[in-house]
Amino acid sequence: MAPTRIPLVIDTDPGVDDALAVLLALASPEVDLRLVTTVHGNVELTQTTENALRVLHLAGRSDVPVAGGARSSLVVPQVQRAGHVHGTAGLGGVVLPLSPAAVDPRPAVTALAELLTTSEEPVTVAAIGPLTNIALLLAVHPDAAARIGRLVVMGGSATRGGNVTAAAEFNIWADPEAAAVVFRAGLPTVMVGLDVTLPTVLTAAGISRFAAAGPVGASAAAALAQYVDHARTAYGTDGVVVHDALALTEAIVPGTLGTVPRDVVVDTGPGAGRGQTLVDRRTVSTADDAVAVAEQVDSEAAVEFLVSRLVAFGSGAQPPR
Ligand code: RIB
Ligand code: CA
Repeated sequence: MAPTRIPLVIDTDPGVDDALAVLLALASPEVDLRLVTTVHGNVELTQTTENALRVLHLAGRSDVPVAGGARSSLVVPQVQRAGHVHGTAGLGGVVLPLSPAAVDPRPAVTALAELLTTSEEPVTVAAIGPLTNIALLLAVHPDAAARIGRLVVMGGSATRGGNVTAAAEFNIWADPEAAAVVFRAGLPTVMVGLDVTLPTVLTAAGISRFAAAGPVGASAAAALAQYVDHARTAYGTDGVVVHDALALTEAIVPGTLGTVPRDVVVDTGPGAGRGQTLVDRRTVSTADDAVAVAEQVDSEAAVEFLVSRLVAFGSGAQPPR
């Protein structure tokens, strides 16, 4: 009997690494992508939503519903987007074909609440953008939020400082108040932060493997080109950190990352530390709202997982719907 596939929702701000993460999910038979909800972040909500539609269409999965969520942070509008990293349209300058699908008419929190309420199996939610939608779900539909089987968050940093400021990682920095609400909600949360994403570098050799595998991989590689240039300039690396794809790897194969229960507090103040995740590494937390913080990663295996799946996907080896 075929193993049960994990129902999956991706909450996302595509974004180049978001796009790769969505393609990875679609290439993975372990999960059944039931819904994509979009959020402001790398670029404006209208663009992240359009990008999500087009990435799904590129992969032949415009059947997956896309519901638009929050267009701005809960309290303080995000100071700047990340067009300098992801391109002004969010996909590294690549223009993907228009999707025939329309945006789901339901707000993201409504679509997410309905899916959580009606699903018989526990649903995994991979949140790979600012956490505004997840915080709103907790506020508007707490009973539905409580039904989340696993919440895998790409965000934060325990020991690696920040990437948008010296203290803050982008997704948390973009809406610290939302992150503070989510991390203390007591949901079964895994924090996939810079501690494990920064060491996990997708090199040009890996990109060229899926670029050659077919149109999906070729488009993904094209979208990555600007991201590679940014990484070379910003980090001096010969490759790209595909943060969101590592979070999806953990969502697809639970336990990929080594995690420790920790108490996590988010700095929501106005100062230089705004958006910092203060992870208490002095103790293993036994608190109800402890967060499973990812602290160990086999980066080489994670990159091979991503590349091999995208290669198979690009060659038409589609997992069952
Ligand atoms: O810090 C990395 C995160 O910020 C990723 O989710 C990337 O897409 C950006 O949103
Ligand atoms: Ca993202």
